[in-house]
Amino acid sequence: MASSTTCSIAAAANQPRRILVTSALPYANGAIHLGHLVEYIQTDIWVRFQKLRGHECYYVCADDAHGTAIMLKAEELGLTPEALIERVNAEHRADFASFLIEFDNYHSTHAPENRALSETIYRRLRANGHIATRSVTQPYDPEKGLFLADRYIKGNCPRCKAPDQYGDNCEACGATYSPTELLDARSVISGATPVLLESIHYFFTLPAFTDFLKAWTRAGHVAEEIANKLSEWLDGGLQEWDISRDAPYFGFEIPDAPGKYFYVWLDAPIGYMASFKNLCARNKLDFDAFWKRDSTAELYHFIGKDIVNFHALFWPAMLESAGFRTPDKICVHGFLTVNGKKMSKSRGTFINARAYLDQLNPEYLRYYFAAKLSAGIDDLDLNLDDFTQRVNSDLVGKLVNIASRCARFIGDGKGGVLATELAEPELWQRALGIADSVAAHYESREFGKAMREIMAIADAANEYIATQEPWKLAKQPGREADVLGICSLGINLFRILMLYLKPVLPRMAQQAEQFLNDELRWDGAIAPLLGHRIAAFTPLMQRVEKKQIDAMLAASAAEPPAAVSPAVTETGSPTMEPLAAQIDFDDFTKLDLRIARIVAARAVEGSDKLLQLTLDLGGETRTVFSGIRASYRPEDLEGRLTVMVANLAPRKMRFGLSEGMVLAAGDDNGIYLLAPDSGAQPGQRVT
Ligand code: MSP
Ligand code: ZN
Repeated sequence: MASSTTCSIAAAANQPRRILVTSALPYANGAIHLGHLVEYIQTDIWVRFQKLRGHECYYVCADDAHGTAIMLKAEELGLTPEALIERVNAEHRADFASFLIEFDNYHSTHAPENRALSETIYRRLRANGHIATRSVTQPYDPEKGLFLADRYIKGNCPRCKAPDQYGDNCEACGATYSPTELLDARSVISGATPVLLESIHYFFTLPAFTDFLKAWTRAGHVAEEIANKLSEWLDGGLQEWDISRDAPYFGFEIPDAPGKYFYVWLDAPIGYMASFKNLCARNKLDFDAFWKRDSTAELYHFIGKDIVNFHALFWPAMLESAGFRTPDKICVHGFLTVNGKKMSKSRGTFINARAYLDQLNPEYLRYYFAAKLSAGIDDLDLNLDDFTQRVNSDLVGKLVNIASRCARFIGDGKGGVLATELAEPELWQRALGIADSVAAHYESREFGKAMREIMAIADAANEYIATQEPWKLAKQPGREADVLGICSLGINLFRILMLYLKPVLPRMAQQAEQFLNDELRWDGAIAPLLGHRIAAFTPLMQRVEKKQIDAMLAASAAEPPAAVSPAVTETGSPTMEPLAAQIDFDDFTKLDLRIARIVAARAVEGSDKLLQLTLDLGGETRTVFSGIRASYRPEDLEGRLTVMVANLAPRKMRFGLSEGMVLAAGDDNGIYLLAPDSGAQPGQRVT
């Protein structure tokens, strides 16, 4: 019996692999949205699959914390870049954890390991003659004291004269040009007219790697369609890559180059190594064994199609020069559309992770993405009607239904012992028979194919139960053994389906393990549960309701998508942010909180986040910029009392000096200014 009902998965058990896996590092200036989640869910499923098969697999990621955008965003919010990236890091971690994305390490590129590795790699490139310097002339904002990338310059199109066009192309007539050709050009940051200024830049000599890259991109490290795209660049002639930016810049200063910083994309991929290095120190792993040139460990990077050149050209060339191993595979996915269109704020389809989680179970999305994912780079559509229908039909209607229909006949649903034989061994064999093919689909990232094979078995199981009608037999005296046999097979089929789905539905698999009183393992032979005691059945998943989808879209339409939470964290909600480190009473008394009256409030031109508030502290007047514009009309605030931090060092912002901070609670769904009870007077200290 045993040999005919088990299936040995020798390959998995005999050759344990060592695999390091990464997802692209999300920028530290915005919230995680459903587009990002295509990538993190895809990678997490692949990693969970490898671990389930008994391989030594590590999944590392980090926030991409450097660059001008983050520096300016922090300034706009009245924060230091360090404070901004720390806050966003906590938000990203919470969002990922809620979607059951299980990193072995989640780090930041603004970390000592990354500084050290970036310097090492840079020094090796330089020693190998792969760093060049030359003078570059670029637009410069004389007021702000900052070189301006194309997206920070606007003006009138030199061809059609359309106003308000960005520095590199015209959205009205499609012309492309250099920012110096724009008419009436101005800095988006200060409004000043840019001037041209010369400075020394550092370059990585990418053309020296043309032959190496031509071979590398055709050696199976990227899909053929990607290799074809890369050939266009390779054949057209590579350019040297500008890896330096002038101060002020939030990043790492380049060794022996005061005032010059590594461009964010130089140290971002090195962040993969740094995150792993940080993990190695904690878990006593051998970093070099994974990164040395002849390493036998595997290295996989999962990325979106927009960042292929960084990962399949610059990155392997840098690693090659610096004497490290290169990646085994760059796994590239397409972009998410919602209801067939690019995600859009006004349609409410620019959906942040949190807006989804406020309404819906993360495993719905994990399953839906799995069902639609392939190894290709086609875009992937989240059609919300199809999502509802697919989740309700496959997960609730098919999968959970098998267990709930059978469990009630095993000890009246309170748990009991399964039959000692399989009622229909062929059906069990059929379910077992797809194991290798499902595994191969997971391995090759053809998750959609795996889901289809799994659901075909769920259909067969439901059909079997429907034909056998155990609920009718249960009413006939003397048929107890038949009922037990049918339902025990049903439970065994449910078990093997949950095993196959464990990488996709980890939480449901855990609940199933409790119900089955058994750990779902796929690193050896799979035998049926016979004469085995199971526990009481508890409902595993609810149906998706249309009103949840509507609420999610309404919330997303109402909120600016990339908002970073305002200064003060909300408390008490189920998705509470982690608490900050404890402080003692002396720390508390350092804060001088005062009641303030908002005597004037106005929108700040050039910012969609900030209001400028004039506050009366009972004699003293302060000006404060506050990121509450999304939630308040200025005129509604005038006359109100609130609470401010009165002894915060003044901070120079793009729009003026901010002399303190008002207190507000909030998250992606709203911002709520704190107000005292009636009777409080401006200037009173809050203790
Ligand atoms: N910080 C860089 C990556 C540095 S990796 C050394 C970056 N960050 S990102 O936040 O813009 O994107 C992170 C990942 O999410 C990228 O792989 C990107 O392709 C992916 N996606 C972002 N929006 C997406 C969709 N709408 N759809 C699918 N993937 C998307 O790029
Ligand atoms: Zn134009």
